[in-house]
Amino acid sequence: MTVSKSVFHFQKPINSAPRFESRSLPAPAMAEVEQRSTGPFTVAVCNQKGGVAKTTTCLSLGACLAEQGFSVLLIDLDPQAHLSLSLGFQPQHLHRTGSDALLTNSSLISVSRESAVPGLDIVPANQQLALVDKILYSRKSYELLLKRHLESINQDLYDYVLIDCAPAFGTLTLNALTAADLLLVPIQCEYYASKSLRSVLELTKVIRQKTNPALNYQLLITMYDRRNRICRLIRQQIQGSLSPIMFNTIIEIDTKLKECPAYAQPITQYAPDTRGAQQYRALAKELLDYGK
Ligand SMILES: Nc1ncnc2c1ncn2[C@@H]1O[C@H](COP(=O)(O)OP(=O)(O)OP(=O)(O)O)[C@@H](O)[C@H]1O
Ligand SMILES: [Mg+2]
Repeated sequence: MTVSKSVFHFQKPINSAPRFESRSLPAPAMAEVEQRSTGPFTVAVCNQKGGVAKTTTCLSLGACLAEQGFSVLLIDLDPQAHLSLSLGFQPQHLHRTGSDALLTNSSLISVSRESAVPGLDIVPANQQLALVDKILYSRKSYELLLKRHLESINQDLYDYVLIDCAPAFGTLTLNALTAADLLLVPIQCEYYASKSLRSVLELTKVIRQKTNPALNYQLLITMYDRRNRICRLIRQQIQGSLSPIMFNTIIEIDTKLKECPAYAQPITQYAPDTRGAQQYRALAKELLDYGK
């Protein structure tokens, strides 16, 4: 599958019509290697750009899958520990976290916790992960650690594993992308999206060559503001050139999604009838259909 090579780029001041300039992006194609037939389907939610709704997507999507009766493990791979916080865990009080699994022989299950959401477990994080990110550089084959941990879990225990990545491309993110079946890239409809997208696609190319030839990826538009003209134009441009690798679902701006972390609840519990909840349910449905 080939996709036209484009990147959204304004040539004129923002009050005139934005123009789309073609440039080369690393080939966004489906990996040709077959997907894993056993074990949970693993999704890494990753974008080097900060604040694009990686954590919100990880939590909301996980909660929607759990709501559908699937068993889901969330893995917080961000030293900021926002995913852990958003489920009510206090990182500074956690004695055992994902760091222990990555640095010692502790299993992921031994450091995982049940959340208050039925069907949703989490491997929490705290600031120690920042140190782990540095320590791993000196370890042989460090990028395979998470993949091996996931393979050693009883393969029937979880249907889905969702990994929340930090806004950086360090050893932790390499672990996530090496372990993943699918890279989900949240993007906002703004000018800077093209730069971060380029970096993610380039990294994916390297990961496919080195550690995970079966890695596929899909883009998800998040925090879409339909009232904003530039946002609408960039959405058209992104969809025009990258539609084969995009989820059809678009996540719009929704204040309720912003409020969720303060109540330590995912949108399915905090505001189950809102647009945000419905849109993440639609994304969950697309993920269920993905690869069928
Ligand atoms: N659809 C949405 N509507 C409104 N606010 C949102 C939406 N999605 C996320 N947010 C808010 O935007 C902010 C950034 O979201 P989030 O923390 O999920 O991004 P992130 O990519 O994980 O950030 P980081 O790169 O720091 O890890 C948060 O305050 C979140 O509550
Ligand atoms: Mg985050």
